[in-house]
Amino acid sequence: MLTINTAAITAKEFESFLPAAQRAHDNLQNGTGRGSDFTGWVKLPESVDKDELARIKAAAAKIRSDSEVLLVIGIGGSYLGARAVIEALRGTMYNLKDKPMVLFAGNNLSASYYKDIMALLEGRDFSINVISKSGTTTEPAVAFRIFRRLLEQRYGKEGAKSRIYATTDKARGALKGVADAMGYETFVIPDDVGGRYSVLTPVGLLPIAAAGIDIDALLLGAADMMKICRAPGEGNPAWRYAIARNAMLGRGKTTEILVTYDPDFVFLAEWYKQLFGESEGKEQKGIYPSAVSFTADLHSMGQFIQEGARSLFETAVLVDTPAADVRVGMEENDADGLNFLAGKSLFDIERQAFRGTYLAHGDGGTPNLVVKITDKNARDLGGLLYFFEYSCGVSGYILGVNPFDQPGVEAYKKNMFALLDKPGFEKEGAQLTARLPEGI
Ligand code: PA5
Repeated sequence: MLTINTAAITAKEFESFLPAAQRAHDNLQNGTGRGSDFTGWVKLPESVDKDELARIKAAAAKIRSDSEVLLVIGIGGSYLGARAVIEALRGTMYNLKDKPMVLFAGNNLSASYYKDIMALLEGRDFSINVISKSGTTTEPAVAFRIFRRLLEQRYGKEGAKSRIYATTDKARGALKGVADAMGYETFVIPDDVGGRYSVLTPVGLLPIAAAGIDIDALLLGAADMMKICRAPGEGNPAWRYAIARNAMLGRGKTTEILVTYDPDFVFLAEWYKQLFGESEGKEQKGIYPSAVSFTADLHSMGQFIQEGARSLFETAVLVDTPAADVRVGMEENDADGLNFLAGKSLFDIERQAFRGTYLAHGDGGTPNLVVKITDKNARDLGGLLYFFEYSCGVSGYILGVNPFDQPGVEAYKKNMFALLDKPGFEKEGAQLTARLPEGI
């Protein structure tokens, strides 16, 4: 179950955004807004292809039986959702405790990171899930070329073939071409679902299932939330969140900080940052999405949040049921002065840290919204993912942008291609080089 607390905004602010929320909702439900070609995710939890789901489960079972490592190659929406769910439900220490390890590549160009992965693959059976909707993104394409060679050296071309899973467009792109030519098993990213909304497609589901997570429960939770979000009105939690965010922006709060209290949720926050950043940050508009992990960041960013520039609001994401019961013991001499906590669980202490922070930051001029789920399990997490997606669609439409495109991502790509002498970009390459300051 999910609840949202928007006490930090006034009833007047809330009501002033209701007509815009209704329009946004209608556009999402009827596919009539900007970018509506990419709103397939709205009904995705009830339209998942059963055969594809069965193939995902079979591939995940094979990976679990023949691989000590699954290497997931993708960037942006083609990896953040899977990593968010795996870390949230299996823990950030999952790879130290369980098999198969799930490692991520293709999301950076760091040679030392690649070397570390190569070292971890040494002597370990592995498979690759390469994920790219366009099939042409440079970072994952480069990673796939590097690690596919390693796989082929280890198992031969034929052996490697049965260890490569390609998740891509049904027809377009270089990755689809390679997969067809080589006979890799492929999974389809629906045409009408953009990268950052694709966690509940094979993009997220295959790695998540390979990590041993119940994807039926994840989809069920998303389907529950889809039904809740389908109902228009003040009780719709996604409307409440979308309205509250825009009300905060109206007050000059241009930065949202997603606050989590569990290191396992750090990548959930990374996923949220991409979802909202890429959806809303355009046409010189948007709320800058950022994130902190408390209580750790109360000792680094807490000072700024309490007393720095007053352009911030927070959205805390909490789980209402402790995942484990760890308690502080009583000590006879109480040398550390902590006996006042004896018998209390870490959850009790964390909750008071949250409540104290809620009040302190509010008093300091950083108001808080609060989203709670009942349990840290697949069903509630599925609901949370859908809640954020639907909220993002509503919020982006209220803001007046197309929440489903990302034209700004192209600028760096064009420059990089030109500077790397990609055929067709030669002229621009020379011009760009001339513009760069000495030493850059
Ligand atoms: O949300 C998006 O569309 C992007 O972040 C993409 O997921 C990202 O750029 C990767 O693209 P692709 O899957 O085509 O390699």
